Amino acid sequence: MWQGRRVVLGVTGGIAAYKCVLLARDLARRGAQVDVVMSRGAAEFVGAVTFEAMTRRPVRSSLWERNGALDHVVLGQHADLIIVAPATAHFLARAAAGIADDLLTSIVLASTAPILIAPAMNDAMFANPATQSNLRRLGSRGWRSVGPAVGELAEGPSERPGRMAEVEEILAHAARLLHAPSALAGRRIVVTAGPTRESIDPVRVLTNRSSGKMGYRLAEAAWQRGASVTLISGPSSELAPVGVDIVRVETTAQMVSAVRESLAGSDVLIMAAAPADYRPLRPRADKLPRSDGGFALELGATEDILLATAADRPADLIAVGFALETGNAIEKGRDKLQRKQLDMIVVNDALEPGAGFDVDTNAVTILDRRGRAERVPLRSKAAVAEAILDAIEKYRE
Ligand code: CTP
Repeated sequence: MWQGRRVVLGVTGGIAAYKCVLLARDLARRGAQVDVVMSRGAAEFVGAVTFEAMTRRPVRSSLWERNGALDHVVLGQHADLIIVAPATAHFLARAAAGIADDLLTSIVLASTAPILIAPAMNDAMFANPATQSNLRRLGSRGWRSVGPAVGELAEGPSERPGRMAEVEEILAHAARLLHAPSALAGRRIVVTAGPTRESIDPVRVLTNRSSGKMGYRLAEAAWQRGASVTLISGPSSELAPVGVDIVRVETTAQMVSAVRESLAGSDVLIMAAAPADYRPLRPRADKLPRSDGGFALELGATEDILLATAADRPADLIAVGFALETGNAIEKGRDKLQRKQLDMIVVNDALEPGAGFDVDTNAVTILDRRGRAERVPLRSKAAVAEAILDAIEKYRE
């Protein structure tokens, strides 16, 4: 999606300007054509040569340059996206007032490209009603904003927002703005991911090998398409995806409640989690001592989340399940589709190399209630997630 896309990266005068060298590098690495435009203040923090080395393109900083001069304003008119990071209070004030007194403010005033800003400044400056009102004015004109975050500022630690959003976060928001229009934009999507675990005693649990990767990739990809996403996750070492609301649960019973609470107003439910199907009937309050004789553990079934919450689903919600099978996968998948009252099911055969739990790839067949079957051969879980979302978009049509 980044290949050949034209991005103007405006850098204004804040200490976070040095991090935008990495932002420029990552955009260029993804294949974007990056034109860096620096304000005079930015040049106090980082040199133009550094950005030129990262983007392999000339850096602009003045309206009055000999070669090109006023033509540079055109940069913004040809851009697919303008990112201003860091965006200082001064820049926001000038942009909000429509003042065009340097190259960057002239570019944003003359452009119709989507604009993403990453404000960064002293926490008191950010909290000031003047800055807040400027941000609201820019927001009402369609400018998107990411951050600032709470954390260490140049002046020391702070408990108020001021610190620029992380580069990864800016990149994710930028990708969302560049994404081709999707039928899932503006939709509410609930994704479950990972295993659940059930206590045997305070230190031991019963769980399974699910890593959460498939569900996390689905949540990321759905957010990139413009959906608002709630990710209900069992224990997983995957990083929380940018932009996604994450609800962390431990047991299958907790996942049942979280799913139930999230269903009202939702358009799609994707049950990618592998909830524990059994739980110790009498978990111990104290640690079970080791015994050479072993011990017997009495297990009871947990609830089936899809069935337990079926009555809570809005009438037009699309419910998507997963089925991990070992042999006869398609047949068993069709049966689960019916039994769990699903619109669609993504079938895995765990015996296939590269598919299933705890790997970065997957090979699946997507079955739907209307009898359609689509084979998605072995590829990354991120690519499988895109194929699943494409199938959901088609199903909605
Ligand atoms: N699932 C669920 N609640 C459970 C177990 C599974 O909602 N307690 C969901 C999974 O998230 C998945 C689908 O049901 O979307 C199928 O999961 P799977 O483990 O394949 O099915 P089971 O119901 O456990 O059936 P079986 O063990 O008989 O294959």
